[in-house]
Amino acid sequence: MGELDPVTLLAARFRAGISAAFPSVVDPEPLIAPSKNPKFGEFQCNAAMSLSKVVGQPPRDVALALVRSVDVAGLCEPLSEASVAGPGFINLTLLPGTLASLLDTMDRPGLGVTPIGAGRPIVVDLCGVNLAKQMHVGHIRATFIGDALARTFERLGYLVTRQNHVGDWGLNIAMVVAKLAELEARGERVDSLTLSDIEQLYKRAQSECSADERGLAAVKRFDLGPKALAELSAQVEGAREAMAGAKRTLVQLQAREPRTFALWQRVADVTMRECLDICRRMDVNVTAEHTAGESSYADELAPMVDELVARGVAEIDDGAMVIRVEGVEEPCLIRKSDGGFLYATTDLAAIKRRVGTIGADRVIYCVDARQSLHFRQVFGAAKAAGLTARAAGGPASLEHAAFGTILGEDGKPFKTRSGESVRLADLVGEAVDRAAGVLDQLLAGSEAGAAIGADERASIASAVGIAALKYTDLSSDRVKDYVFSFERMLAFEGNTGPYLLYALVRTKNVQRKAHSELGLGPDAFARAPIMVVQPEEKTLALTLLRWPSVLRSVAEALEPHRLCQFLYDLATSFSAFYSACKVLHAPDEASRLSRLRLCSLCERVLEDGLHVLGIRTIERM
Ligand code: ARG
Repeated sequence: MGELDPVTLLAARFRAGISAAFPSVVDPEPLIAPSKNPKFGEFQCNAAMSLSKVVGQPPRDVALALVRSVDVAGLCEPLSEASVAGPGFINLTLLPGTLASLLDTMDRPGLGVTPIGAGRPIVVDLCGVNLAKQMHVGHIRATFIGDALARTFERLGYLVTRQNHVGDWGLNIAMVVAKLAELEARGERVDSLTLSDIEQLYKRAQSECSADERGLAAVKRFDLGPKALAELSAQVEGAREAMAGAKRTLVQLQAREPRTFALWQRVADVTMRECLDICRRMDVNVTAEHTAGESSYADELAPMVDELVARGVAEIDDGAMVIRVEGVEEPCLIRKSDGGFLYATTDLAAIKRRVGTIGADRVIYCVDARQSLHFRQVFGAAKAAGLTARAAGGPASLEHAAFGTILGEDGKPFKTRSGESVRLADLVGEAVDRAAGVLDQLLAGSEAGAAIGADERASIASAVGIAALKYTDLSSDRVKDYVFSFERMLAFEGNTGPYLLYALVRTKNVQRKAHSELGLGPDAFARAPIMVVQPEEKTLALTLLRWPSVLRSVAEALEPHRLCQFLYDLATSFSAFYSACKVLHAPDEASRLSRLRLCSLCERVLEDGLHVLGIRTIERM
C-alpha cells in the first residue's frame, strides 16, 4: 500500500522539487508543517529559509523557484507566486477530494499499514524478572514497554522473538537454594513454599551472607570492649561460613547435582508461575515459551570466553579477563580473577544466540536506564568479538530502549511506606478496585448502567484499571522518570487509558444506534462515499491518515509514547467532530453515511492502536 499521510506525501514531492531546482543540495529537508493559519491551506513548506543559506539566495527567491519546480498535482491546489507568503513560506491547500480519496484507500482491513517487516526476525528482551523475588514496580516498564514494542513490530510484519532474560543463575540464587537445602536437612517441607516465603528466605540468606567487616574493624580500632568484639567476630565468622556454603551450593548447581538442582527448579517454578500469571492478568504476552533465563547460557560461557581469549579479543587485566571497548571508560569484564563469570558474560552469550541462531536484524533491550553503562560495554564487546555479524549479511543492531524510573508523589523512587518495593500484584489489584469504584459512580442511576450486569461490570473494571496502569506508563516519555498517581491515571479526561477506552466506546455507540434506530448496519455505509467538508471532519481525516507513519516511527524510535500521543489526538479530534457534526441526524443521507463511515474508521484505528499497546478493549461502559 502506498503512503497515506499527506505530510509524508508532500515531503516526497518537495524533496524531488528541491533537488530539481537546486541540484547541489544533498539530502534536502522539506520541512512540511501544519499551517499556522488554516485560512491559507492545511500545510506550509518552510524549507526556503534554511535553503537560502545553503544556496546563497534570498529566501523569497528560493520559494519562488520551488513553486515552479515542485509538482503537487493530484494532492494540492496548483502552486503560484501567490502561494508564497512572508519571508518565503509556501502555503499548501489540499484539493477538495484528496483527503476523502486517501481515507478511502486506508479503509481496508490493514488500515493502510504496510508490512515492512516482511517476516524478518527481531528479538525483544523484556520483563527480565529474577528468581526468588516477586514482580515489583521495577518490572512494570520492562514488561509494558517491551510488550508494546514487540506488538508494534508484529503489527508491522516482523517475526518477533520475545526473550525474558530471567536472572536465574549465580551466587545470589545459590544463596537461596542453600537456604532451602538447610530447611530440608532440618526435615522441613519445601514443596509448599510460596514465592513470598521464598523471597523472605532470600532476604534472610542475603543478610546472613553479608559479613560486617567494617563493624569488626571499627570495634578493633576504637577498642569498644570484649563484648562488642565477640559479637562482631561471631557475625563475621558466621557470614563467612554462610557465604562459603552458598559458594559450595553454586558449584553443585553448576554441576547439576540432582538434589541441589531439584531445589533450584522448585524456586524457578514457583517464581515463574507467579510472574507469568501476573503477565496473563495484565494482558501481557509473556509466557513460558519466552523464558530464556541466564541459566540457559550457563554451559556456553566457558567455551565462549576461551574462544575470545584464543582469538585475542579478550585480554588479561589484573588476573581478570576483559574486552576493551572503544569510547567506553571501563572495559567489559567477562571473567573474574576467581574464574567466575558475570552478568555481562551471559549477555554476550545471549547476543550470540539472538544474532547467530535466531538471526535477528535488531535486538531491542527494554531495560532500566541505570544499566546503560552495562549495555555500552556489552554492545561494544559484542561488536569487537564479531558477535553482531549476521549470516544474512550486515551487522545486527543492538539497541538499549532505556527507560526512566517510576517515582512516588514525593519525587523519590516509588516505594511502600515501609520502604519496600511495591509489589506489581498489589498495584494491579488496587488499579482494578479503584476503576470499579469510578465506574460505579459513572454508571450510578444511568440507563446504560442498569443494562450492565455484575460480571460485565467486573470485566470492564479490570480492563479500565489495567488500561490506566499500562497507558500511564507507555504515554510517558520513555527515557524520563514519571510520578505514579492512581488519581491521574484513572481520570476519564485527559491523556489517559480510561479516556481512550471511553472514546472508543463512543465510536461504537453511534454505530450501534445507527443500526437499532435507523436500521443502518455496517453494510449500509461500508463503501459510502466519504465527504470531508467541516473543519472538524478535516482534522479527524488528517489525524486518521497519520496512523501508518506513526506506527513506523514508534518502531524506529522505540517510543510507544508516540503512539499514545497519536491515539489521544485521534480521540480528541473524534470528540470535536462528534460534537460539531451531527451523525445520526446529519442534514442529508449522504453526510450521514459518510460520517458513520468515519466513525467506523475511527473505531478501527483506535482499536488497532490500543491492541498494539497491549490494552484490552471493551464494547461498552
Ligand atoms: N534481570 C535483570 C535485572 O533485574 C534484567 C535483565 C535485562 N536483560 C538483559 N539481557 N540483561 O536487572
